[in-house]
Amino acid sequence: MQRISWARTTPEAWQDVLKQMVVLHGLSLTPAEARPIVRYLSSRHGLSPAEARTVLYDAERRFLRETTMIADPAVSACSKCHYIARPLSWRRSPAEWKRFIDAHASAYKFRPGDAAAPFLANVAPLHSVDFDNWYARSGVADVSGRWLVTASLPGRGRYYGEIRLDPAGDGEFDTFVKLTSVADGSQLRRTGHIAVYGDSAWRGRSSGNPSAQDTDATPDNPACEAREVMLISPDRAIIEGRWFWGQYQEFGFDVQLRRPPGGPMLTLLDRQSLKAGSQGARVRLFGDGFPAALNTGDLQFGAGINLRSIVSVTSQQVTAMVDVDSGASPGKRDVVLSGSVLPGALTVYDRVDYVKVTPDSAMASFNDPAHPRGYQPFEAIGYQRGPDGKLHTGDDLELGPVDAAWAVEVFHSPPGSSADFVGAMTPEGLLVPAARNPGNNFDVWVIATARSEVDLSGKPLVGKAYVVVTIPTYSMNGRQYVRDLDRWVDIGPAPASIPVLRETPQ
Ligand code: HEC
Repeated sequence: MQRISWARTTPEAWQDVLKQMVVLHGLSLTPAEARPIVRYLSSRHGLSPAEARTVLYDAERRFLRETTMIADPAVSACSKCHYIARPLSWRRSPAEWKRFIDAHASAYKFRPGDAAAPFLANVAPLHSVDFDNWYARSGVADVSGRWLVTASLPGRGRYYGEIRLDPAGDGEFDTFVKLTSVADGSQLRRTGHIAVYGDSAWRGRSSGNPSAQDTDATPDNPACEAREVMLISPDRAIIEGRWFWGQYQEFGFDVQLRRPPGGPMLTLLDRQSLKAGSQGARVRLFGDGFPAALNTGDLQFGAGINLRSIVSVTSQQVTAMVDVDSGASPGKRDVVLSGSVLPGALTVYDRVDYVKVTPDSAMASFNDPAHPRGYQPFEAIGYQRGPDGKLHTGDDLELGPVDAAWAVEVFHSPPGSSADFVGAMTPEGLLVPAARNPGNNFDVWVIATARSEVDLSGKPLVGKAYVVVTIPTYSMNGRQYVRDLDRWVDIGPAPASIPVLRETPQ
């Protein structure tokens, strides 16, 4: 108990600690016994919301390059096998950091460097003012009742709807979600169960209707069973996070919940951008508590976007028709409905200058008897060059997804040759690795060719992403490597049955 009170961390890390106690130290625990222990540790020895926010992407299993994270040489060794967020999810005293790193380096056979422990003790200390302040005022977050939901699922677009949370005792809740797809109007219902730890950490599971589906045929089906990792804001007005699934958690909704204020609240538009000179463009606005009698003065789209008419109004949806001045200056506009503001909700543009495929680099994997396939969804996003007139600079304006045709091209293969032995794209932009594992890794381009946007010379705009399609595990120099998210992890001596990686043919 004394060692435990010298560390703080996230709910999943405490869960891992209990698992290690069971596996390595013979502790015997039923799930019913483990739950209150995880609850106690995560609530009393957890992270403040500000601390949790910086490392949430690890628990959310986001595929992300850690360019914005600490890239100090003192801890460069630590991001070889996992995100640097893994250690930064822990807060320890200087002595405990030293003990941990020594034990960890000897277990995983690496040299951490002398600066690692002092560095972590400094950036991830056991005691922080932020934590003490938060701990003193934190109570039990009552998240029960109704929230408005907006969500987006790469390849499937955006969703709006609501969620109801019914208390289930001990800080746990049953969840009931209704979502509607902006793209095609399809309805999705999901039910689930969550726990709230320490006033801010939302952890749970949910699945959609019907709950059992053919996930092999549509692995990105939005009704799939998902894990939920979210963070409740300190004022309890917003909850944000990711609901994810897949062998490598490669599918997931980005979710935002907001408390309805009792009056009008605008949460989402059906489009992100409008072209200058557009006439009679329809814009749908979603939210809650919209007044039945909406005057044209209640609806503002910003400079150069003129409301022609309000087509229809319900308490949760308004359809408006707008005209955009042909000389409207490119840039973001706030949209206002009865005093509720959605900042930067619409972007005016003159032309689409280029298309970017996101993510711009990724991994996908073939299957083997122990690992189902790892897919990867992509989106083609349109951009305008921004005020500096230069492409691919920080001031460029994001315009939202553009309609594109998708293709896969294997590196160093003759033009026009088939990539089917590696994988293929669905019309929605999902990379599906070949069902038959070819026994090697391949570098490929995923290519999006815009269907209607062209460059200044009239050629279709094209975007590319770099993808490594891999076998799920291999051996090298007697060690076994397995894929995790975007990297290879050395998990120890390789059994003879693990394939040896061949050089990619050049
Ligand atoms: C050679 C690979 C490797 C390196 C290098 C490495 N780790 Fe780890 N680390 C692991 C593995 C494997 C796990 C278990 C991950 C899992 O189960 O998801 C882990 C887990 C952790 C955890 C979670 C707690 C636990 O014990 O499971 C922490 C904290 C951590 N590492 C810190 C560090 C720090 C700090 C460094 C650098 C000084 C480092 N790691 C470098 C392989 C490595």
